[in-house]
Amino acid sequence: MQQDVNLLRIPGPTPVPPSVERAIAQPMIGHLGSETSELIQRIKPRLKKIFGTEEDILFIAGSGTAGLETAAVNVANSGDEVLVLVSGSFGERFAQICESLDLTTHRLNFEWGSFIDVEKVKQFMQENNNIKAVFMTQCETSTGIQNPIAEVSEAVHETSDALVVVDGVSCVGGVVTEMDEWGVDVLVTGSQKAMMLPPGLTFIGVSERAWDVIDANESRRFYFDLRKYRDNLAKDTTPFTPAVSLLFGLDQALNLIEDEGLENVYERHTLMMNMTRAAMRALNIPLLTEDVHAAPTVTAVKPESFSADELRRVVKENFNLSLAGGQQQLSGKIFRIGHMGYCSPADVLQIISLIEIGLRELGEDITLGQGVQAAQEVYLQRNK
Ligand SMILES: Cc1ncc(COP(=O)(O)O)c(C=O)c1O
Repeated sequence: MQQDVNLLRIPGPTPVPPSVERAIAQPMIGHLGSETSELIQRIKPRLKKIFGTEEDILFIAGSGTAGLETAAVNVANSGDEVLVLVSGSFGERFAQICESLDLTTHRLNFEWGSFIDVEKVKQFMQENNNIKAVFMTQCETSTGIQNPIAEVSEAVHETSDALVVVDGVSCVGGVVTEMDEWGVDVLVTGSQKAMMLPPGLTFIGVSERAWDVIDANESRRFYFDLRKYRDNLAKDTTPFTPAVSLLFGLDQALNLIEDEGLENVYERHTLMMNMTRAAMRALNIPLLTEDVHAAPTVTAVKPESFSADELRRVVKENFNLSLAGGQQQLSGKIFRIGHMGYCSPADVLQIISLIEIGLRELGEDITLGQGVQAAQEVYLQRNK
């Protein structure tokens, strides 16, 4: 029998907790009425904590990419020079967005699977003093790396007046994020990853420095004009009809995060990453990334003795377990396990045990339980 529940272990969209689903199903309310304002009032202070900022977090109906485009069109104007740090397919997307807005786009490329080299950024910024903004990806979902945002941001600020713009789509809410402390000027995330919601909302934090640039920027924008969202949010409303149902869901997702405690949420993600990595090592399957800067939300695995896509096919057919494949230059070469948002160590043990069966189905000579055992040991060592 095909299991009817999709075991969704891709790095987004991620499973939605039942209580969040129920919240989303509440009857519709008028978006200009007091109920929506009260909802926004409840949400506002709590989102700040997740971003690690004192600034209000703006939300726009749209996917993560809408948030990235919003960031770019608000901080720069056609012809402005910007730098994009590319360590995978989402860094590449940021560069494409900048190019589509006619920004003069410089790219610094880093090997896919490795992370942004701070020294190279510093050197580039010293040699190019017209850069208006530097764009980078916090967790590069295509490779499972978490870039050293605080260090890169410091290097940018030391060498220039450029704004630091960060794509945190696949990690904010699941990993320690300190927008203010790190000197991040614009931070973007999406609803369908660590935030435990369906797709359709993007969240944007903006620093005071960035507001000065945004206010003075004459770039052409309408729906994506952040000034409209800021001015409306100050009055607990939105410039356009918000995704009301997703805001109901967000209210409840924030309850869940607060009940668990943000620190515990972060620790759970690190634990799930460590369990997953230990399991793959015990099964002798190479990981794409080294431990340093590995992402707590997604793990990329680069098998040598079997096809990543065949394994994905077998576990999908047998168990309805969805793992992600590789993107662009990593297509067919890796598989990726999403362990973020509504995901627990118990889920990780399930994923690993199903992967082990998949490996045997593919004829791999592994000992059943070896990966699970390694993950169990990591679990038992937690907090020690
Ligand atoms: C790091 C990162 N940035 C941007 C996106 C794009 O988000 P969306 O597909 O919601 O537009 C994703 C989605 O996987 C992502 O992981």
